[in-house]
Amino acid sequence: MLDFIAARRDRREHGAQAIHAFVGQLVGGAIPDYQTAAWLMAAVLNPLNENDTAILTQAMASSGVTLDLSELPKPWLDKHSTGGVGDKTTIALVPALAACGATMVKMSGRGLGITGGTIDKLASIPGMRLDFDPDDLVELAADTHLAVAGANRSIAAADKILYELRDATGTVSCIPLIVSSILSKKIAGGAKHVMLDVKVGSGAFMTNLVEARELAGWLVRTGRKAGLNIRAAVTDMSCPLGRTVGNALEVYEAFDFLSGKPTGRFGELCIELGGQALDLAGLAHSPRHGRERLREAVSSGQALRKAGEWLDTQGGSFEAVLNRELPAAPVQIEWRHKGGRKFVESIDAGEVGALVVALGGGRRKKEDEIDPSVGVEFMVEQGSPLSDGDPVARVHARSEEEAAEALERLQAAVGLADKPVRISPLVFDVL
Ligand code: URA
Repeated sequence: MLDFIAARRDRREHGAQAIHAFVGQLVGGAIPDYQTAAWLMAAVLNPLNENDTAILTQAMASSGVTLDLSELPKPWLDKHSTGGVGDKTTIALVPALAACGATMVKMSGRGLGITGGTIDKLASIPGMRLDFDPDDLVELAADTHLAVAGANRSIAAADKILYELRDATGTVSCIPLIVSSILSKKIAGGAKHVMLDVKVGSGAFMTNLVEARELAGWLVRTGRKAGLNIRAAVTDMSCPLGRTVGNALEVYEAFDFLSGKPTGRFGELCIELGGQALDLAGLAHSPRHGRERLREAVSSGQALRKAGEWLDTQGGSFEAVLNRELPAAPVQIEWRHKGGRKFVESIDAGEVGALVVALGGGRRKKEDEIDPSVGVEFMVEQGSPLSDGDPVARVHARSEEEAAEALERLQAAVGLADKPVRISPLVFDVL
């Protein structure tokens, strides 16, 4: 291990043998945390090259259980977001893409920090089971061809150890470490086609476009080296995605999309990413054709029916979602606009994410319990015109005090302009 740390300190290439030995010893519990942490810090200061990153990714992917999807029909498709505020795209796209013929068996994460997690959102549905072993997950999908579960400790076991140490040692932000962490779990998850959504903006890991493009490029090149058919879209996360931030509220919005209701920028992103994903998986002959297929799956009711089958097989109550009976916060306060004719110029995703965490909708530490009912519902998005008395947003909180505090932060997070504003692009790039 001392040689391994020294190699990183001195910017030497590690090579396959050293990396496999490191990962093997790591999962075997043979490396003290202080040595792993020293290597991680050296890896942040002297990042691994692409060759070593690809080797590390493969070694981490094989460090635990891998899902075998061979009993399920092809194409095996996965969709992954690097994380954002109000990002409920997975909940909408898993059933919609399955309705178009893809097998979608997916491991998802819990939220940590300002970015929410799909598993926390789904956990707000009464009865929804999310704790399946990898083999049971595949069996569960035998008829419906879709299933979602929380990432299991046994999948990419090395990543669990490394991620917890990274989180505790200020070594999360480093492209080769992020790439190996994300892709090792995708490879172990068994899908062959992977559509990535790399978020950029104040509510994302990557706050500037140059870094986000760099991350997307690394993910695509490393994924291809590992044999994945992979594509990445770089998409906006300067404003929260869609009109809701908060676990139960986001489930409603995802199901609004599946029901064919208007869902603004969130719906647009689902169609965009879904169209790319169908093209990538060979279920459409172009992204445009993919978008058409997806719109058709939604308007014909197939996507919503598939969502109903999905919830049924995982024990979740479809009725509770459709009848809006998920946990509701006891206090709701509305913000109505005062101050004459204005336009919504910006909604700071990072700040909205942070205030929803403060309301109890996210975790500060991984042991924290979250409250599924709290959050923010917007009646506007970037560019919306406002006149006096128009509703801007509603805060859902556990108490009057928490609601008032959140509303004050929310009002500071929304920028208003006197003139119509330029709306940020939704998709910056597809690689
Ligand atoms: N998501 C992951 O799974 N790992 C990272 O390192 C960053 C985001």
